Amino acid sequence: MAETDPSRSIRGLKALVTGAASGMGAATAELFAREGAQVAVTDLNLEGCERLVADLKADAITSAQAFALDVRDPDTIDRVVADIGSRFGGLDILVNNAGLARFGPVDGETYEADWSLSMDVMLNAHQRMIRAALPFLRKSASPRIVNIASTEGLGATPMNSAYVAAKHGVIGLTRGMAVDLGKEGITVNCICPGPINTNITASIPDEDKQVFARRRTALRRYGEPHEAAHITLSCVMPAASYMTGAVIPVDGGLTIRNA
Ligand code: NAI
Repeated sequence: MAETDPSRSIRGLKALVTGAASGMGAATAELFAREGAQVAVTDLNLEGCERLVADLKADAITSAQAFALDVRDPDTIDRVVADIGSRFGGLDILVNNAGLARFGPVDGETYEADWSLSMDVMLNAHQRMIRAALPFLRKSASPRIVNIASTEGLGATPMNSAYVAAKHGVIGLTRGMAVDLGKEGITVNCICPGPINTNITASIPDEDKQVFARRRTALRRYGEPHEAAHITLSCVMPAASYMTGAVIPVDGGLTIRNA
């Protein structure tokens, strides 16, 4: 039974990571593969996925495979998840990670489009991916779902309301799905990264990042993608069988710092 499996290893388990061509998704897919899992490295940027798979192969790790998957499209999700599940002979782990940033004022010209895109990629996709993966997860001995939210799901920064709304939604979805799927032993948790050095934050000048990190985080620095990936790994190991609906900040102490 999933509840009593004490293993901290994901070796041999089958995982799917969205948005895995760069940043935290890539770090997570890489870590899972290095830990011995069979990993579907998916992204709308197939080239980035193929690069990661090739890098792993160069290190003699052959358990990762690249798949094109644009999570905006429900039909594509159904088709690609079914394809991966049948090629892999099952799925144990789903990480909903794909995301993007669209900053702007609430009365900006692109607000409506930014809102729709944010919801599609960072909230609608999560529920669609979960529902597409369910037939496979239901057959797993230790089924695990991790949704990547954000500290923007716990508070808000200016000019970011569509993103903030999507990420608050991810936390609600995590809790709702955890309650609904708990009776089947499927755990659903979410990670709330704080400021992490990835493509999303690449356009912020280094000096601004340092000022922000020193002022706002307890650890006084930006995090790196692998530091979030390791917490995701902790959530998906078989031994993590009694944690569900959890909202886990990985934010260098941003959310606990008052001054
Ligand atoms: P990133 O830009 O390095 O990676 C995001 C990936 O998502 C990219 O590879 C991109 O191609 C992919 N993607 C975008 N739209 C997609 C779509 N329609 N279908 C499939 N893939 C798509 O950024 P990062 O930071 O690694 O983002 C990963 C997650 O972490 C996102 O959900 C983001 O919102 C979240 N996050 C990031 C933080 C940060 O400071 N970097 C902080 C908190 C949360």
